[in-house]
Amino acid sequence: MTKRTMLRPWRLSDAESLYEYASDPRIGPVAGWQPHSSIGESRQIIREIFMQDGVFAVTLRDAGDDRAIGCIGLIRGTKSNLPIGDDEGEISYWIGVPFWGQGLIPEAMAAVIRYGFDELGLSTLWCGYFDGNEKSRRVQEKCGFQYHHTNPATYFPLTDDVRVEHVSILRRH
Ligand SMILES: CC(C)(COP(=O)(O)OP(=O)(O)OC[C@H]1O[C@@H](n2cnc3c(N)ncnc32)[C@H](O)[C@@H]1OP(=O)(O)O)[C@@H](O)C(=O)NCCC(=O)NCCS
Repeated sequence: MTKRTMLRPWRLSDAESLYEYASDPRIGPVAGWQPHSSIGESRQIIREIFMQDGVFAVTLRDAGDDRAIGCIGLIRGTKSNLPIGDDEGEISYWIGVPFWGQGLIPEAMAAVIRYGFDELGLSTLWCGYFDGNEKSRRVQEKCGFQYHHTNPATYFPLTDDVRVEHVSILRRH
């Protein structure tokens, strides 16, 4: 729980709201995945990817309707996309376009960072963003992450293109 958001596990019944936001081409491609093409695909992604430890639906406390409007995940060790140790985690996130620019993801990130360090006892948190994704770079900067390294241009099958990824780091103090 944060001032304005509530983070909770994903449910299959979130498929409709997930589709509403994740079908927008301004969300997935910059994050490395294709826009969702049907509610059925959104349901499958909830089942296969989102229903795991550390992946949360972002909801708005004030809305009072518990709708999922974004996603934030903390994935540990070998399950992460990055080559990291078991006591490290990677955070990834997105939020529906109508909710951009209110600082909601940085607010949710702060809670996930506390969860990672204080509850899971992780030593290090990592975040990546693709070259040109200034919004995501700013989120990481605002949350205290520091630039660590840049991966060489790599082919990404999900988006069928070659991308340069920048990786940033936050160590437990
Ligand atoms: C990146 C993202 C999660 C930011 O979430 P957010 O809750 O809007 O975060 P903020 O409100 O702190 O905004 C972050 C930056 O985005 C930019 N921004 C915000 N609203 C914007 C808008 N409507 N249009 C263009 N840029 C905008 C600003 O540069 C802002 O930085 P600032 O605080 O220095 O002005 C969101 O833009 C998103 O979901 N993007 C698509 C998916 C994605 O990139 N995920 C990350 C993959 S690594």
